[in-house]
Amino acid sequence: MPGTIPEPLVVAVVGATGAVGRTMTAVLLEHDFPMRELRLLASERSAGKTVTVGARPYVVGLATPDAFEGVDIALFSAGGGTSKVLAPEAAARGTAVIDNSSAWRMDPSVPLVVSQVNPDDLEWHEGIIANPNCSTMQLMPPLMALRDAVGIERVVVDTYQAVAGTGHKAIVELEEQVKAHAEGRPKVASVYPHPIGFNALPHIDAFLDNGYTKEEWKVVTESRKILHLPDLRVSCTAVRVPVFVGHSEAVHVETRDPITPAEARRLFAAVPGVVVQDDPATNLYPLATEAAGSDDVFVGRVRQDPSIDDNRGLAFWVVSDNLRKGAASNAVELAEVLARRGWVRRASARRPVGASGGRPA
Ligand code: A2P
Repeated sequence: MPGTIPEPLVVAVVGATGAVGRTMTAVLLEHDFPMRELRLLASERSAGKTVTVGARPYVVGLATPDAFEGVDIALFSAGGGTSKVLAPEAAARGTAVIDNSSAWRMDPSVPLVVSQVNPDDLEWHEGIIANPNCSTMQLMPPLMALRDAVGIERVVVDTYQAVAGTGHKAIVELEEQVKAHAEGRPKVASVYPHPIGFNALPHIDAFLDNGYTKEEWKVVTESRKILHLPDLRVSCTAVRVPVFVGHSEAVHVETRDPITPAEARRLFAAVPGVVVQDDPATNLYPLATEAAGSDDVFVGRVRQDPSIDDNRGLAFWVVSDNLRKGAASNAVELAEVLARRGWVRRASARRPVGASGGRPA
């Protein structure tokens, strides 16, 4: 991304021992994010232990309100309960919190941001910024391209989600079930209600009264907020599959104006951080195994949806590393935008006394 960060900052990672937290630390180091100090924080279970990131050992501290004294930016991935309690404590101490949990995403006073889709929303933050859900995240860059070119009327998305999104314990559970299968032992499920090994579970997060799961409903509500399309019609089925890292999505979009697959591929490829992989003749299409480890969003299988008239329907396949662009990398990219644009301090602390402005109505 263009622009330089004027001065090194004090950065904290909360949940630093978890699957996303470890990736957040790794991405900060990979991106050479300028840091005067890096504080890795977790619960009393891990405080005092040493974690190694990028071959460097770090001692984990306890995530308490006072641990945020002097912290410029804190990246949180320690669950919604921890964020509910600690994010306001950090914000009260002048820290800009980028929170990966669902605790704050739909709060109207909290920006919900994908770095290449709605970075300007960061300007009005008041100390807490929400990182979208992983399945929403990777959907946004291609949908933004269609919204801007031909308008979008309706989206149907079915997800094929990796176990890493559930956390480290789910990775261990899938590994164990694969071993149990090979050794002829029964597969024991504890993280999920059924074995994930050799299965597809149409159940991610709790069921709501409307029959959807919370994960599916996040895609609906978060998409509307990020794209600034409050009335967008969205339906989602979220499925957990026995993949370690990398979410895949089958997406069907009804556009306002006609569009061809060739035009859509051109639009997708022009979005920063989007890579088009689409050559069925050579079996080229996005794969979770290939996307894992990358910060990009991969799009392929772009085709006209013949069930919608007038060339206003598109179908495509979107894959991304759910720990990276779906969580850690986007959080670091938001930190980079805040630092480069001088928006680390909350909006009301940046405005002269008496000035109006802030979140658009
Ligand atoms: P800990 O190692 O102390 O349990 P994952 O999603 O991969 O399971 O990781 C969850 C992360 O959130 C871990 O780093 C975990 O730390 C951290 N965590 C959980 N509860 C708290 C808490 N109350 N305060 C701070 N960190 C927490």
